[in-house]
Amino acid sequence: MRYAHIVGWGRYLPERVVTNDELSHLVDTTDEWIHQRTGIRSRHIAAPHETTATLAFEAAARALAVADLHPSQVELIIVATSTPGHMFPSTACLVQDYLGAGRAGAFDLSAACSGFVYALQMASQSIATGAVRNAVVIGAETMSRVIDWSDRGTCVLFGDGAGAVVLKGSSVPGGVLSTTLRSDGSGGDLLSLPALYHNPVPIAGAEFAHNGHHKNIVDMDGRQVYRFATNVIASSIQDVLKMGEMALEDVALIIPHQANVRIIETAAKKLKLPLEKFYLNVERTGNTSAASIPIALCEAVEEGRLKPDDNVIFVGFGGGLTWGASLLKWDVTPPQVSFIDHEWKRVRYVMARGRSRLRRLQRRVEAAVARPPNGHKPDES
Ligand code: ACO
Repeated sequence: MRYAHIVGWGRYLPERVVTNDELSHLVDTTDEWIHQRTGIRSRHIAAPHETTATLAFEAAARALAVADLHPSQVELIIVATSTPGHMFPSTACLVQDYLGAGRAGAFDLSAACSGFVYALQMASQSIATGAVRNAVVIGAETMSRVIDWSDRGTCVLFGDGAGAVVLKGSSVPGGVLSTTLRSDGSGGDLLSLPALYHNPVPIAGAEFAHNGHHKNIVDMDGRQVYRFATNVIASSIQDVLKMGEMALEDVALIIPHQANVRIIETAAKKLKLPLEKFYLNVERTGNTSAASIPIALCEAVEEGRLKPDDNVIFVGFGGGLTWGASLLKWDVTPPQVSFIDHEWKRVRYVMARGRSRLRRLQRRVEAAVARPPNGHKPDES
């Protein structure tokens, strides 16, 4: 049996911070309303040149530096996201290319705000079965690109960012101990984000005449989502503890999906836990969907909220509806990475971009050489 341990972590938040006051010039809202109802004061918004993939890459590069793992050794990359730049190539494939992770399988995972917990389970199971020895699991989002900035009910809630962990297999018991994943598609309409613009199909017959020219923006029934979230946080935590045969008192920290402080307060009351048992950073980040748990994890580690041998729970909930929790033993203390070391290691990513360009050029040259002269079919020779 192999155990999947977190041996590296990294986060990336875009430089631009947008405060509630700034939003109050955009929609009819106030800092007081937003903070009172959600706990949010500000969020980060990606610059025009940034994409979900570049955010994910930055977080992954930092996590690999902490893990002291060379990108060429990475065997699996999973990006949990609801805001991919493309359906294909996947964000994970772009990250694979940016990292120069030439031996890695890569795919995106769609489970909205629960995506990171789902992806962690997929990766840790791949390690447990021996299919791979390590994996990079990333949550990355550019929610700012799928929000209706004229809708005060949603635009004040979300932010952009990415967080990543490196998982490594070990025979030492620990790491990801148990996970519970759940879903309820009957609540899909409560929180949705259309993915496709349907092009009309030029074939006769009504069945081909799609008319779903919907906007690609988040639609949410806030009150219903609120009720759903407060229920499933408590039940997921209880379920994952039962699976891991552990008591709530043995857990040092709970890192929930950062959607709303009031949701966490209600869940804490249900579990009869002090709010301090939950790590919260939503005040500074807003809801970054699949990225929120790994970003919060990085900040919790930086603030010394996790010590070796601590048990920690990640709990996610969101669109789908989906929800889930992971119970982990935080038992590896990787060396601190100096700024200089980190910057020096980034040279390898410049080289990876160069190699990628060369491969593209090589493909073009090979295609040009293989192309037969105009009008000449290969089988006519
Ligand atoms: N500023 C000022 N007033 C506002 C704003 C705003 N930004 N947004 C809504 N209002 C108004 C409404 O128009 C409404 O006014 P009315 O009474 O005149 O009609 C009033 O405030 C109350 O609106 P509600 O929607 O009932 O407010 P509520 O107290 O439920 O808070 C909120 C809204 C914050 C969205 C809350 O329902 C919530 O947090 N829900 C969960 C949302 C969430 O976490 N979603 C993501 C989870 S999953 C995932 O991460 C994808």
